[in-house]
Amino acid sequence: MQAGVPLDFLGDLKRSHSCGELRTTDVGNRATLMGWVHRRRDLGGVLFLHLRDRDGITQIVIRDNPALVAKTDLIRSEFVIAVEGVVELRSKETINPNLATGEVDLIADKIYILNESRTPPFPMEDNVNVSEEARLKYRYVDLRRPQMQRNVILRSKIAFAVRQHLDSLGFLEIETPFMTRSTPEGARDYLVPSRVNPGTFYALPQSPQIFKQLLMVGGYDKYFQIVRCFRDEDLRADRQPEFTQIDLEMSFPQQETIFGVIEPLMVKACAVAGIEVNAPFVRLTYHEAMQQYGIDKPDRRIPPMTQVNHLFEGSGLFSNDLPLMLIRIPKVGAISRSERDSIKAWGTEKGVRVFDDPKRLDRDFPEAMAKARELAGVEPDDLVILASWAGEPTGHRPEYTVYQICGALRLQLAQKYADKHGCFAAGRFEFLWVVDFPMFEWNEEDERWVAAHHPFTSVLDEDLDKLVTDRAHCRAKSYDLVLNGVELGSGSIRIHRRDVQSKVFDALGFSDEEARKRFGFLLDALEYGAPPHGGLALGLDRIVMLLCGETSIRDVIPFPKTAKGTDLMCEAPNEVPAKLLRDLGIGLLKKS
Ligand code: AMO
Repeated sequence: MQAGVPLDFLGDLKRSHSCGELRTTDVGNRATLMGWVHRRRDLGGVLFLHLRDRDGITQIVIRDNPALVAKTDLIRSEFVIAVEGVVELRSKETINPNLATGEVDLIADKIYILNESRTPPFPMEDNVNVSEEARLKYRYVDLRRPQMQRNVILRSKIAFAVRQHLDSLGFLEIETPFMTRSTPEGARDYLVPSRVNPGTFYALPQSPQIFKQLLMVGGYDKYFQIVRCFRDEDLRADRQPEFTQIDLEMSFPQQETIFGVIEPLMVKACAVAGIEVNAPFVRLTYHEAMQQYGIDKPDRRIPPMTQVNHLFEGSGLFSNDLPLMLIRIPKVGAISRSERDSIKAWGTEKGVRVFDDPKRLDRDFPEAMAKARELAGVEPDDLVILASWAGEPTGHRPEYTVYQICGALRLQLAQKYADKHGCFAAGRFEFLWVVDFPMFEWNEEDERWVAAHHPFTSVLDEDLDKLVTDRAHCRAKSYDLVLNGVELGSGSIRIHRRDVQSKVFDALGFSDEEARKRFGFLLDALEYGAPPHGGLALGLDRIVMLLCGETSIRDVIPFPKTAKGTDLMCEAPNEVPAKLLRDLGIGLLKKS
């Protein structure tokens, strides 16, 4: 930092325009701008400053004024200044078509240096070669970069469009507590110790799930909240320990009622980002999604897989009636022998047999291959691979294991050859609903069934008996919204009857006592006229990430945590003074 740059007071100086606002219609008028010095050029006696704020950049010209030129000499990048002057039309050859304000200059007659700045750790530009650590440590500087400004502004506009849409449908925005009891969303809780009740803890909510159900019992039949949720789980590019949900709940809905709220909401959110999408969205059952894509969050930018067992009966390409899948990646063209070998090796490692040579398959099974190509819509330049399970069936639904591995292979191939076939070209937005999820998942570690969504989810009417007789095939009234292979949201029609809730707790192996201890207040509420209800929560960070064309939610959250859950800027989490722990009645075990 330069020592001793004399600073001016803001006093009662007011800005007349933002730095992105001045146009030819303002020529001849006076204007006062305030912002950060983006760039400074000295063309021998005439000085040019690019003055920046979140709205844009205006060129300031300082000429014919030696005192002002001398003052401007003190100014460096990222100084905060105010400029008063007159708007002047630029000559034709100096117009800057890349700036919205590029047809005018502000000819300065007064400059106020409001604050100085150290040399910033990286330039305020997109595509800067800087580590994420540095960006997060100096986040307040990083937030000035155009990429972050675009993302944060779009996020605000999307949140506003969501509020407008839900308000127009009669939804009420209602807050629910942050200091509460554990909510069963499958992650660990962040705990907050209570000082006044030593030895007890609040849990930060993993979602407002139980409270929004209680709001339905309380008669607020259309609720929403744009709300922070907290989950202590392994972090990834699309997971943060604190993240934001667009959470909503309705009384008396069918599944389609919820979709009828969410589809136009997503259409409007996309429109804010300048993206046109059409509703209704495709709907696939969980079974169809698994069979066609091998995953419950299909990326529909790549064609589905096709199960072709019926065409290859007796061929020896599959065994135990487990699926034989045709995987097709469009427009890849020829690939080398070694590339084929590496696909095969990957398959072997995961337990699938990969038939990677279509010429050989055509020779050995000409008729079946012709029909399979037709069924899968194969075109001449497509990469075609058949795959089946190599070993004995495993798990409660062995066919799903095969679908999953083939689906993973499909995604891997698509990513590897994405450049060639252009499936992942920017601007493609393929939404879909996945419905009828399984009610239960088998937990290998604990050797018991657990709720696939959460334990308040209704069973499909026709599967009610399977709660007891066939848990592997018992389906739920639950649904996910998926975009380009990312789960954007998840929800369900809830259980509103006490007797059914008890049956589900029973199926999940909760004893009466345990269920009462954890969710007694919800069980009580179900006995006081709980209406049929259902809802959903969308991940706002993930929506904004995809609409901004980013690959990490960290780039759409102003102050995110690192992959290790730390805040590099304010150095959280941090140790606290021993007295604070004593007051809370907490003793730490020695670090091993
Ligand atoms: P679920 O747990 O599926 O459902 O969460 C809903 C959506 O929230 C987003 N999300 C996350 N985003 C960023 N970081 C995370 N750690 C994270 N975890 C979840 C995802 C996800 O689809 N109470 C239910 C909803 C309901 O049934 O109404 C729930 O929370 O986009």
